[in-house]
Amino acid sequence: MKYIYIKTWGCQMNEYDSSLMASLLQKKNQYLITLNPEQADILILNTCSIREKAQEKVFHQLGRWRKIKNKNSEVIIAVGGCVATQEGEEIYKRANYVDIIFGTQTLHRLPEMISEVEKKRKLSIDISFPKLEKFDHSLEIKKTGYTAAISIMEGCNKYCSFCVVPYTRGNEISRPCDDILFEISVLAEKGVREINLLGQNVNAYQGPTFNGKICFFSELIRLVSEIDGIDRIRFTTSNPLEFTDDIIEVYKDTPKLVSFLHLPVQSGSNRILHLMKRSYTIEDYQSIVEKLIIARPNIQISSDFIVGFPGETETDFQQTMTFIKNINFDMSFSFIYSNRPGTPSSEMEDNLDLKEKKKRLYILQNRINLQTMLWSRKMFQSIQSILVEGVSNKNVMELYGRTENNRIVTFHGSPKIIGQFVDLRIKKVHTHTLKGELF
Ligand code: SAH
Ligand code: F3S
Repeated sequence: MKYIYIKTWGCQMNEYDSSLMASLLQKKNQYLITLNPEQADILILNTCSIREKAQEKVFHQLGRWRKIKNKNSEVIIAVGGCVATQEGEEIYKRANYVDIIFGTQTLHRLPEMISEVEKKRKLSIDISFPKLEKFDHSLEIKKTGYTAAISIMEGCNKYCSFCVVPYTRGNEISRPCDDILFEISVLAEKGVREINLLGQNVNAYQGPTFNGKICFFSELIRLVSEIDGIDRIRFTTSNPLEFTDDIIEVYKDTPKLVSFLHLPVQSGSNRILHLMKRSYTIEDYQSIVEKLIIARPNIQISSDFIVGFPGETETDFQQTMTFIKNINFDMSFSFIYSNRPGTPSSEMEDNLDLKEKKKRLYILQNRINLQTMLWSRKMFQSIQSILVEGVSNKNVMELYGRTENNRIVTFHGSPKIIGQFVDLRIKKVHTHTLKGELF
């Protein structure tokens, strides 16, 4: 029996891709998954290049794996994901003990690539972009748990000036609507109750239907909500651009869609948004939020922020801080701008020192934490619907689940209710987690 070890960096799309790889390799090559790289016959690195010194991180990891290969020359090392897509054969030039280089769109070919290497013992490389092919295998992903993420589209055409995604994942392409609905129905039959629709820009979804029409994102959400067994719908990530009124309308009539929206704004300064090529203004964003509040008064909004974008002044930063207060963002992600080779903003002059960037990040994160705490406190003594996901890993006597607004709640209850929605009264509040009692 052979073992594979998969290390995954990056976003939920990468997590999804890794679970697809794991399922395919278990099924087609009958490999077993191990959590110990020393035990593995095949080591797979699914890389991310969104921030930091992505390439260096990859070669450090490969260096560690080389030691494993030195002990056993039969071990196969495969590198995939965004760095592999960007770098291709360069990876092999720097680390000639790598056996396989595959891209974000060719991971379904991994079983064949591994067999090829096993036979011929020479580099196998495929970083092409065969449109949507990998999803032909998505039904094979093993269901684990009662929530499932399902990819509805890939890629991005927006070319924000700081971002590598359009280069690593390719142009936007939507999966056929009927394939998605079928897959979700199969998951629902297996007990999945909550679906997270995944994509780099889900609101740009426009998938073909069986009768030759186009299904837009708003319609897709409504269709998913009609599937028996699916009681909660989330999506990640959406973009303020193309967040059209028909999508806002869905919040009015589709209670299964959660009252929590991750809508990355990146900056609260119109000047910076323009330099970022985000193609919207803070007024546009504000207007989306106002309409959303009318459609769903209890909606909570979270965001991503980049601080220290080239040329960001103290005034720009203060505008972001004001915007954070005005929108009253809930828990959000924030990052120091990272210069990504090949992106337009990498050419811009960046003369702000790292110390100042770190200071801004710290101030911003403190504010977000405060607001997150205030949102959580509002939940004290309220009744919340929770999908019970399992036994808490901090205390085996407790169960845990998530609220609509993404807080983990722990509580005492019988394991028989795992996989069901229950109502809890919130008895204790921390910033990101809560404690509750069955109601
Ligand atoms: N489609 C999403 C973004 C996906 S990338 C959107 O429209 O916003 C995820 C997040 O990583 C981004 O929201 C951004 O905040 C961050 N990010 C992307 N490139 C970055 C860079 N070069 N430096 C710092 N953060 C970056
Ligand atoms: Fe990146 Fe902008 Fe697309 S942040 S994923 S290029 S919307």
